Amino acid sequence: MDATDIKKIACVGSGLIGSGWATSFLIKGYSVVIYDVKEEFLENARVRINQNLEFFVKKGILDTRQFEQAVNSTSYTTSIQEAVSDVWFIQESAPENYEVKQALLAEIEKYAQPSTIIASSTSGLLISEIAKFAQYPQRCLGAHPYNPPFLIPLVEISKGEKTSETSIRKAYEFFRTLGKEPVILQKEALGFIANRLQVALYREAVDLVNRGVCSIEDVDKAACFGPGLRFGIMGPNLIFQLGGGAHGISGLLTHVGPSVENWWADMADWKKWPENWIVQSQEGVNQEMANRPSQFGQTTAEIAAWRDDMLVELLKLHKKF
Ligand SMILES: NC(=O)c1ccc[n+]([C@@H]2O[C@H](COP(=O)([O-])OP(=O)(O)OC[C@H]3O[C@@H](n4cnc5c(N)ncnc54)[C@H](O)[C@@H]3O)[C@@H](O)[C@H]2O)c1
Repeated sequence: MDATDIKKIACVGSGLIGSGWATSFLIKGYSVVIYDVKEEFLENARVRINQNLEFFVKKGILDTRQFEQAVNSTSYTTSIQEAVSDVWFIQESAPENYEVKQALLAEIEKYAQPSTIIASSTSGLLISEIAKFAQYPQRCLGAHPYNPPFLIPLVEISKGEKTSETSIRKAYEFFRTLGKEPVILQKEALGFIANRLQVALYREAVDLVNRGVCSIEDVDKAACFGPGLRFGIMGPNLIFQLGGGAHGISGLLTHVGPSVENWWADMADWKKWPENWIVQSQEGVNQEMANRPSQFGQTTAEIAAWRDDMLVELLKLHKKF
């Protein structure tokens, strides 16, 4: 089975991430069967998926014929047998809990074909542990999306001890076919790649505020209108390559590297959240939201819609749409 053989996909678990994945598959023309434990959850998923698809029509990425086709290519079921027995790829997005995911995998394996890839959306559980009791653990792997999965291209593929290289290659090719940007973790790492980078930055952001260097609003402004603009188009290594001009990253690190070691000596390396940060962070973010120009959104829902509009424009520049 190659990535091109995948025509029909099962999304097992239809919450925020499961319905987001379903949208990603549908806009690329796949048939998707969606499973959840109760009809009411499926109904919520149907509403979410249709809203997501309408968003793509509004953005001119899908036309009305493609929209209809996507809606007609979606089926919903509370029968796991019906969901997984004739698909080549299963994206599991059930609650983040070993017992739930292990029991679900056992159910899936009763009905799925032995060669079907089973990818878990887990944000941080170990694939070796999820697949501990699996009959065919070689086809179990992690495929961690970034929210919202129907817009963000990154997929972090992770292996368990028994995952086969063939399964990893098939999943990688499949996500490439989907227009995603998969990365393969060569060994298990808590938080994978992107979340580790994100929280490393966030710890310093918290520390700068707590030291009184700047406000929450200004730390966000510095991140967004400085390095953030560049991060939207390239990663930190390539940024440093350009920062070094003709001398490249090696020239930059030779030049400023010794100063950076002094900064590191002064920077945050704590392992526990500062006391009261939960309350303080919310107060600071509320203030930041109130200060935003109203056309960019001031409530969480307005800002999320504005974010999705901005993401589509950026993704068009990346030739993703
Ligand atoms: N929320 C995020 O930002 C995010 C990002 C990346 C990955 N993830 C991961 O995606 C997975 C799902 O997270 P979510 O945010 O969509 O959660 P969610 O609560 O929105 O959705 C979980 C869904 O699983 C269903 N469910 C419950 N028991 C089930 C079972 N036995 N079989 C199948 N489905 C079952 C629930 O009814 C619900 O619809 C988790 O592993 C999470 O770590 C979440």
